[in-house]
Amino acid sequence: MTLLNFLLVFCSPTLYNENRFMRASFIIGSQWGDEGKGKIIDFLSDKADYVVRFNGGNNAGHTVINKYGKFPLHLIPSGIFSNATACIANGTVLDLEVLADEIALLEKAGIQLKGRLFISPRCHVIMPYHKILESLHEKAKGKNKIGTTGRGISPVYADKVMHDGIRLFDLMDKKQLSEKLAVQLLVKNKIITALSDTENLFPYRKHAGVKNKVMKAIAAKPLDQKEIEKNLLKAFAKIKPFIKEPHPVLMQAIKSNKYILFEGAQAVFLDNDWGTYPFVTSSTILTGGINAGASVPVGGLTDVIGVVKAYTTRVGAGPFPTELFDKDGDTLRNEGGEYGTTTGRPRRCGWFDAELIKFAAELNGFSSIAITKLDVLDTFKTIKICTGYTYKGKAVRYYDGGAEFLSKVKPVYKTLPGWQKSTKGVTSFAKLPANAQKYIKEMERLTGVKASLISTGPEREATISR
Ligand code: GDP
Ligand code: IMO
Ligand code: MG
Repeated sequence: MTLLNFLLVFCSPTLYNENRFMRASFIIGSQWGDEGKGKIIDFLSDKADYVVRFNGGNNAGHTVINKYGKFPLHLIPSGIFSNATACIANGTVLDLEVLADEIALLEKAGIQLKGRLFISPRCHVIMPYHKILESLHEKAKGKNKIGTTGRGISPVYADKVMHDGIRLFDLMDKKQLSEKLAVQLLVKNKIITALSDTENLFPYRKHAGVKNKVMKAIAAKPLDQKEIEKNLLKAFAKIKPFIKEPHPVLMQAIKSNKYILFEGAQAVFLDNDWGTYPFVTSSTILTGGINAGASVPVGGLTDVIGVVKAYTTRVGAGPFPTELFDKDGDTLRNEGGEYGTTTGRPRRCGWFDAELIKFAAELNGFSSIAITKLDVLDTFKTIKICTGYTYKGKAVRYYDGGAEFLSKVKPVYKTLPGWQKSTKGVTSFAKLPANAQKYIKEMERLTGVKASLISTGPEREATISR
């Protein structure tokens, strides 16, 4: 250890120790998204001093229903309706027009944002070419497409990793923006126009079942730099007053023992590393993602709350072992209103999968789970829970194979009696029907994690806190 290091470690306890422990909860989606994170964050935000988004972009759609109305939030933290200070930290990617619209929507609803919304200048910006490239890639993949949200998410994160990203920093200097955009358009326009010549670019096109005609039809014209700059700077002007690095704000919050809520977007099984790759999103969803995406040490998180639906849903392609194709699946979709908050697509529905949650809990160190949409199961005579998987007759775990393997595993089910009584709006565990209590206890037993919250309706008040 050098003398300097020695002095830093032993003579600056503030710097090295205080950040290690913080009053902070991480609310993380634990299935394939849309678990009701927005609802749970809104419920918890009354106690929060800070609410923070740190990953993903407007592929997220978080529904909040409270006394201000109903809001499908894509970028601004769902805890914005409390008195908390909100941060959109550096790991988040931004579509500036969507963000400007969301700011306007909230201000119109009477939510004061000035002085309490901090947006990191390190956030990468989604460009029109990102959305076009994504659509071209999806079309080229044909029947193997991912079923993305079409918001330009994978190309913007790819550019970030490729050193080709454009950040809010760059928009503060018009000359720098023009120089960077010129390079990007030189490359991107070539790709976009070249995609008309699909024969050479996509030799696997025939495998994927994509017809040449289709590829030609979607080939786009080159993008105009002036037009892009004009639109970008117009939206940027609306966001500029909120751009300020959240790092010192969060460091001060930790030092003053303030309570921080980290709001995860997407979910564990859409994580780029541990989700059902390639049917995943492009950011890190997991606990560790907070460190890189929000500039705080994560060792000191007070709790990690996994949000889980009382059943399972998924939007887009990819394996889903407990998916239902029968009338039970239709009942879940109809009763649960299972249509995407962002894209409006019908969600695929299936039974609760305890194997997924058990693994998500191992990966992230869940301290508890928040169970949502219990009321959606009210009408079922019997309800199934997946207790684990088998493959070729042998018990297997989630991590024993990739997406192809997971599409072939067989779920092992336990059947429980339903309660066939309304749980809508119930706010105490003791008032739940006995079979609903048994169902929750079984979810806890099989996943190994206790439920700290149970949601019985979309509104903030319809919540059981234990
Ligand atoms: P998020 O992306 O995880 O925030 O979830 P979404 O907002 O995309 O989807 C969850 C949907 O379920 C929204 O329409 C919520 O209003 C709704 N919701 C949340 N919790 C409950 C609940 O306990 N019961 C019912 N019936 N709906 C709920
Ligand atoms: P919230 O935060 C549900 C899914 C897409 C697709 C895959 C990749 O509301 O839970 P992307 O556009 O990210 O490249 O798409 O990930 N997906 C989501 N599904 N809820 C979300 O967000 C999602 N964000 C991405 O459907 O399968
Ligand atoms: Mg959602």
